[in-house]
Amino acid sequence: MERRAFGNTALEVPVIGMGTWKTFDVRGKEADARVRVTDAAFETGATFFDSSPMYGEAEQVLGQTLNGRRDRAIVATKVWASDDGEAEQQIDHALSCFGGRVDVYQVHNIVAWRKRLEQLQRLKEEGAAGIIGVTHYSASAYDDLLQAMRDPRVQAVQIPYNPAQRTVESKILPAAADLGLGVIVMRPFAEGSLLSQVSKAALAPLAPFGITTWPQALLKWILSDTRCHVAIPATSSAAHLRANAAAGEPPWLGADERAYISRLAGHPS
Ligand SMILES: NC(=O)c1ccc[n+]([C@@H]2O[C@H](COP(=O)([O-])OP(=O)(O)OC[C@H]3O[C@@H](n4cnc5c(N)ncnc54)[C@H](OP(=O)(O)O)[C@@H]3O)[C@@H](O)[C@H]2O)c1
Repeated sequence: MERRAFGNTALEVPVIGMGTWKTFDVRGKEADARVRVTDAAFETGATFFDSSPMYGEAEQVLGQTLNGRRDRAIVATKVWASDDGEAEQQIDHALSCFGGRVDVYQVHNIVAWRKRLEQLQRLKEEGAAGIIGVTHYSASAYDDLLQAMRDPRVQAVQIPYNPAQRTVESKILPAAADLGLGVIVMRPFAEGSLLSQVSKAALAPLAPFGITTWPQALLKWILSDTRCHVAIPATSSAAHLRANAAAGEPPWLGADERAYISRLAGHPS
């Protein structure tokens, strides 16, 4: 698995990680079974994990699956509250799930971001938070996101990027590169909506790039823009995780192959 410098930070990240929205918001036997997905992440080196207090049981379930190997994982989670007390509770909960430390602590959807950055900065000074980041999923919020990205306390940004959602190309990715921010790509499969079947014949021209499945093509499409440091597909399946992780190796695609994949995705550039 290729690892990239996470912007200008001291962190190095694997190019493929894992999201936990919906897939880790499970209980009982289903939650116990998620350890196999995390096992696959460690086997393949896809050891960057993203969660949020917005994802129900996900932080708790992720934390349980990391038991005994927390130190070898990079944990990114978020705080998502306009109320200070509620934010404090979310932070206490996350720290209890992740052994007292969050490596990348993000302001989810930039909710009350000025207040939350103060809180996260204090946490960083205490050693309980590593890098501070901001996230948003919606292009309508990108002007506000840009403002938050320019705050000197912010070192990372999480945004959606895939052939159907390319708005970040105009301002967010150039600004992230200029500012030296780490870039986390959410929704690589547009919440699964890009995952309709693509024939083996259509994928054949991509074989020299190590691509054998359509999700791998989408992941390589993202990561071939080297302004992106880690993509975080969510999955409830160890087999899917292994297949996704296999896309985390060079060779990377050129402009022609990326355009070809965009056309296959039904979103010609
Ligand atoms: N504002 C924010 O900060 C924000 C917003 C949205 C998302 N996120 C983060 O980004 C992560 C990823 O986004 P997402 O969860 O919306 O969607 P996604 O990763 O684009 O798609 C997830 C879907 O893809 C399927 N999938 C994954 N690998 C597959 C494979 N190899 N073959 C077939 N299907 C596959 C999964 O189903 P299976 O379980 O069957 O594999 C799941 O239904 C989230 O989990 C979350 O951590 C952050």
